[in-house]
Amino acid sequence: MAKTDFLTLLDYGRVDLDRMLRSAKDMKQAQRAGEGPQPLKGQVLGVIFHKPSLRTRISFEVGMAQLGGTSLYITDQEIGFGKREAIKDIGQVLSRFLDGIMIRTFAHDNVEKLAAAASAPVVNGLTDWTHPCQIMADMLTIQEKGLDLDALTVTYIGDGNNVTNSWIHATKNFGIDLRVACPPGYEPSEKSMALAAEGARGKVSIVRDPREALIGAQVVYADTWTSMGQEAEAAKRRQDFAGYQLNNKLLGCAADGALVMHCLPAHRGEEITDEVIDGPQSVVYDQAENRLHAQKGILVFCMDSAR
Ligand code: CP
Ligand code: NVA
Repeated sequence: MAKTDFLTLLDYGRVDLDRMLRSAKDMKQAQRAGEGPQPLKGQVLGVIFHKPSLRTRISFEVGMAQLGGTSLYITDQEIGFGKREAIKDIGQVLSRFLDGIMIRTFAHDNVEKLAAAASAPVVNGLTDWTHPCQIMADMLTIQEKGLDLDALTVTYIGDGNNVTNSWIHATKNFGIDLRVACPPGYEPSEKSMALAAEGARGKVSIVRDPREALIGAQVVYADTWTSMGQEAEAAKRRQDFAGYQLNNKLLGCAADGALVMHCLPAHRGEEITDEVIDGPQSVVYDQAENRLHAQKGILVFCMDSAR
């Protein structure tokens, strides 16, 4: 049987994505009752990081422990990805030791090359183009809050980045009306828009005016204006994104009680104000917790051949 990777949300149909979300929800409940299942007993997940992380690293390592397996943190100092050794060889050799590989890296191409070389499943823990595990956790959170992923209006305010691209990919399988409010020059990738549009259940629009984009929004989503690797552009970005800060005034344009979401880390006082992120509509810590549960669903889907 072919191995199962998790590289982008475009790679799966609705049935598989629902299965991962359902299993995440079930395992979350079971874990809380002290009866968490351990289907990955004896398995080892290698976690490769080329960028910093709080949530992704800890949730994957804790998730593996809860599932009965173990994890191994691998930095580039050890393996010199594509420099000390070809990605092709790294993928093949790691597959002889590990039962799964999670990678956070810069170029999305790195993940595709690793997945092509590895016989072990590869999970994308963020690239410059995508962040699919984050959006799985976000969708789990939205479901838990009682909203319908097939009749949902989401407004994303800010940079058309990796998180935005994965939200766009989600519209292929879910009935989401996604509005992206961004300044000129910061649109999400055209490739994402084109790939998601083919036979999509949802739709995506780019709206310049954040107030207009927020009309009727049930979920209001923000992310940093300066992603990892773009630090040299931070000052220019702060200027270019003026007017796109999620503050109470802007939030007032959304539907009553709209959920406020942010993948974190947040730059308080830049893309989002304290009053909003700490306010009653914010679900950011539920989102963060759900990284653990959603990824357990993904890990079981990819690594448990008995599922
Ligand atoms: N949201 C997220 O991926 O957080 P980390 O960068 O801390 O992993
Ligand atoms: N867009 C952000 C997401 C961090 C989780 C980044 O890439 O830095």
